[in-house]
Amino acid sequence: MVKDPEKENVYWPSENLKEKAWISDAKIYEKARRDPKAFWAEKAKETLDWFEEWEKIEEWNPPYFNWFIGSKTNLAYNCLDRHLEENRNKTALIWEPEPPEEQQRLLTYQDLYEQVSKFANALKDLGIKKGDPITFWMPMIPETAIAALACQRIGAWHSIVYTAFSPNAVKDRMEDAESRNLITADAFFRGGKTLKLKEKIDRVLEEIGAKNCIVVNRAKTDPPMKKGRDHFYNEIVSDEEPYCEPEPIGAEDISFLLYTSGTTGKPKGIKHSCGAYATQAALTTKWVFDLHPQDIFFSTADIGWITGHSYSLYGPLLNGGTVLWYEGSPYHPEPDRWWKIIDENKVNIFYTAPTAIRALRRKGDEWVEKHDLKSLRILGSVGEPIDPDTWGWFFEKVGGKRCPIVDTYWQTETGGIIITSIPGIGPFIPSVAGPAVPGIKYDVFDVTGKPTEPGTSGKVVLKHPFGPGMLRGVHKAPDKYKEEYWSEYGDEIYFTGDGGRKIDMEIGEQNLIEITGRIDDVLEVAGHRLGTAEIEDAISSLAEITEVAVVGKPHDVKGEVPAVFAVTKSDIDLERREEELKRKIVEIVRKKIGPVATPDATYFVSDVPKTESGKVIRRFLKSLLKDEKLGDVTTVSNPRCLKELAKKVNYKGPEKIVSFTT
Ligand code: WT7
Repeated sequence: MVKDPEKENVYWPSENLKEKAWISDAKIYEKARRDPKAFWAEKAKETLDWFEEWEKIEEWNPPYFNWFIGSKTNLAYNCLDRHLEENRNKTALIWEPEPPEEQQRLLTYQDLYEQVSKFANALKDLGIKKGDPITFWMPMIPETAIAALACQRIGAWHSIVYTAFSPNAVKDRMEDAESRNLITADAFFRGGKTLKLKEKIDRVLEEIGAKNCIVVNRAKTDPPMKKGRDHFYNEIVSDEEPYCEPEPIGAEDISFLLYTSGTTGKPKGIKHSCGAYATQAALTTKWVFDLHPQDIFFSTADIGWITGHSYSLYGPLLNGGTVLWYEGSPYHPEPDRWWKIIDENKVNIFYTAPTAIRALRRKGDEWVEKHDLKSLRILGSVGEPIDPDTWGWFFEKVGGKRCPIVDTYWQTETGGIIITSIPGIGPFIPSVAGPAVPGIKYDVFDVTGKPTEPGTSGKVVLKHPFGPGMLRGVHKAPDKYKEEYWSEYGDEIYFTGDGGRKIDMEIGEQNLIEITGRIDDVLEVAGHRLGTAEIEDAISSLAEITEVAVVGKPHDVKGEVPAVFAVTKSDIDLERREEELKRKIVEIVRKKIGPVATPDATYFVSDVPKTESGKVIRRFLKSLLKDEKLGDVTTVSNPRCLKELAKKVNYKGPEKIVSFTT
């Protein structure tokens, strides 16, 4: 990287990097902006094979749109079949199991193709067909990639639930999707432990009347199996043919569902398309990570998140690349596992989250310094803003000041990256994500819907035509779709839910942007979205609690963690029961949502700040936790409670507690 001669903390790609990069001329931004639809159509043709071409590039009936109307393609075909002729024996997936003594598994494109076909045939034999939802509760093992691709092959919708979510969270998502089929594993390894899945989900399978549960015998723990309903993966694929005709998937079809948190209690089933989604995933993988055929791409994102879909699986395979999956914890057996994996496999592109970088940094520099890491060329960050300090460490200790850090901003809803600097163009500035990727238009609006000037914070929006990777609605909830994304500034502007600030610097005639984070009632825990409402819902189910508000509390490693403000029934003897109730709150959250949402702190209070209409104003709770200025308290109908709250959280902020009571 080359340091900008004038501007502090601004880096540009070296000549060497530019020469090698797919994209190194900023003119591409202008070209894409002149005719974004034509740009995406050109890229769709370049990056994918289509069974049938479109009659129309895009159609827009706010707030709905569709891309490549009349086309047909298949995601699995594009990830596998078309690479066989030239790359049959090339490694598609390197799988690193957690137990250090266990052998790595390498799957070539041919292996993956055959296994996907076999599993697709097995799914068909179980009666699963195009348009059927299938829920996954799967760890990072090769069968997860195979199963996802098999769903794509036959047009079934996968709905992948993160393994750190609880069985109840799986149940909610199965019910919402009307899914009666589950794919899971007996167990998997993480942090040296054997974490069971099948046994834990049995109750849910009974409750929802599941038709099929396919079990990968990953850890050979001899899980309970119910005859007729439960099938071992190995057994159902063993007699299948290694060929399965790929189902043509149309532009109007859905290729997968992925649940994400919104501002209301229930998670939203985000619907993604096939060919259009794949176009953005493929192009951004190639350009943003500058993925070349010989590169090894290690994305640490779990398949349970959109990053796992677009960049741990589909994006790299669409480009015929080699992707590396690691099953377990970065600390096992020691906190240099990722660095070791990078060296041993000569990883070139490494994509992770700021929370993980902070956590590894805390383990001490010696762990990373022990490793060469010279194979790395590109580093990526996602999930939350990366603070300058963490950026600096990542840049220096991991990237040896050689590698650009692409700070990629996007969402489950956008399907692919929408804002980031590109390796061959730059610039790379800590805490600044960059310009929009070619073909995407962003802006920052003030409350009235006017674009803000650089330096002024506002709300980050997207303008038509949105990227082809953009969501196609919220499953069975059209109102929620409108309300969450298309109501802030009318139905022609997509509101991301994030705040941001343009900076006074341009690339391709557009300002770079600094994303400041979510401004709605969603927490960002270790780079993942959790709905405050979903957590509050879980806690309110306790008989002792009458009112509860959950907000994000700053955390050194995870960025944010849930903090709970709870009001108990008046007859509860808190002095005696405080610890017990705190424990109960933690337990219920872990049970209903999962360990990811575990509250970090619980404060019992006699009231929480509310508006006249009774809506909890979480903003004040947040400011109190962050020792920030509270701002305008005139909208609070019960300002007295702020005094008690300030005391509880040991508020040291700029405002005097006494002023809250006036
Ligand atoms: C939210 C989306 C996109 C995959 C990861 C999580 C935040 C994401 C960045 C970034 C600042 C970021 C936003 C966004 N976010 N990337 N580079 N800089 N914030 O997906 O669960 O859908 O969350 O993550 O707040 O809205 P998700």
